[in-house]
Amino acid sequence: MAKLFIDANNKKSLIEPEIYGHFSEHLGRCIYEGLYVGENSDIPNINGMRKDVVSALKEIDIPVLRWPGGCFADEYHWKDGIGDKAKRKKMVNTHWGGVTEDNSFGTHEFFELCRQLGCKAYVNGNLGSGTVQEMSEWVEYITFGGLSPMSELRKENGSEEPWTLDYFGVGNENWGCGGNMTPEYYGNEYRRYQTYVRQYDSERPVKKVCCGPNVDDYHWTEGVMKTCFDHTPEHLHGLMDLLSLHYYTVPGVWEKKGSATEFDTEEWYKTLSKALYMDELINRHSAIMDQYDPEKKIGLSVDEWGNWFDVEPGTNPGFLYQQNTVRDALVAGVTLDIFNKHSDRVKMACLAQMVNVLQSVILTDGDKMLRTPTYHVFHMYRHHQGAELLESYIDGAGQSGTEDCKVPSLHESVSIKDGIITITVNNLSCDKAEDLEINITGAGDSEIIEAKIVSDKMDAYNTFENPDKVIEKDFDGCSKDGDVIKLTLPAASVVELRIK
Ligand code: AHR
Repeated sequence: MAKLFIDANNKKSLIEPEIYGHFSEHLGRCIYEGLYVGENSDIPNINGMRKDVVSALKEIDIPVLRWPGGCFADEYHWKDGIGDKAKRKKMVNTHWGGVTEDNSFGTHEFFELCRQLGCKAYVNGNLGSGTVQEMSEWVEYITFGGLSPMSELRKENGSEEPWTLDYFGVGNENWGCGGNMTPEYYGNEYRRYQTYVRQYDSERPVKKVCCGPNVDDYHWTEGVMKTCFDHTPEHLHGLMDLLSLHYYTVPGVWEKKGSATEFDTEEWYKTLSKALYMDELINRHSAIMDQYDPEKKIGLSVDEWGNWFDVEPGTNPGFLYQQNTVRDALVAGVTLDIFNKHSDRVKMACLAQMVNVLQSVILTDGDKMLRTPTYHVFHMYRHHQGAELLESYIDGAGQSGTEDCKVPSLHESVSIKDGIITITVNNLSCDKAEDLEINITGAGDSEIIEAKIVSDKMDAYNTFENPDKVIEKDFDGCSKDGDVIKLTLPAASVVELRIK
């Protein structure tokens, strides 16, 4: 039988709540329809934000939201999205379906959304096609409390007080859609642009995010770090707080990624194996960062991750709308476990994307809304937010898979907060239950205070007709026998136990 060993005395690193962050781009029906319907919509809303969606999102404790893109960010001119909505300039969203963007959701609306969600704000600036002045003025508009041209403009537009800008991204994917730059060129541009991301309020510093690599582009990480490094790590720390990493799980090839709902066992394991690759990516990019930042003061921000499948048949290919099955739940579970285990370096991560795009937690159709299996995993895992990672490992679980593709059968992470231990375990096998024995050192006389599970057939999913097919349920497959907890994880399951 597989055994999970936990050392409650060995606290490793703080799991920043921001690891459970989300991403919302002006793409398809993420912002418009999904989050924002406007004040005059028949769909119940508060200041234009959908009540049903905001209320569901609040239940998973959203820590941070990234906006406005993505590729959209490097084409976005923030001044087009402020002031009287009827007069706002329109633009073509060239990346995503060529649709007309009316800019009715802009800076004020984004901060209103963050206020309603109770989350931190991560704004991504435009380095690819914008100017230093434009970026600098945006930060002034958002954060300056005194008398200045931009703060006056903000007040004219109805916001007397500045907002808290927690994170600011200096460009997005500048190796690709953000300008096709070389790492050295971007590194120099980054140094220049970030200089003008001023800190107007020492009590509320803006953390600067430098554009990091795509997948395994170690050359980019090395080139940007080297270009930004100037004599000492301390100097570098003044320049950047985080470096981004983008990695999507694509089971097939880019031209034919695979269906979100129709897949076989081979594709199940291929997807999970590709999701597990995140571990190697973090290890290797972090090792490069270590050379310039040995104390790990610069965080890795995996601010785009998740499954990327073919769009749902009959939907706009530029809108990236896909369904979400138990396979997505498992990818979310193992990926969040990987982030937890790397919480000494990974300080933020944003699932792409929050609503109606890629691996979403919420899907909408008109006034209808559903929570995806991924949503339920985020709900269970919320207890890891702000907890301390505990040393843990699984022995004797073996592997599951096909001849060509194998993955570890079980995958876990464990944390402690306020004396409560949270254990999350995934059974990656799509057809075989796994017995597990859990041994905890240093927990004294403890009880299981909560046991939850998300599980179903590997390709089960929620529809607007049957929105609760795959949900988080109470888990009755575990028991405590003296110091040992025994459980049987059903095939294709994500389980959470809380011990006190
Ligand atoms: O999330 C969709 C797109 O993927 C983003 O706009 C871009 O940054 C990435 O390539």
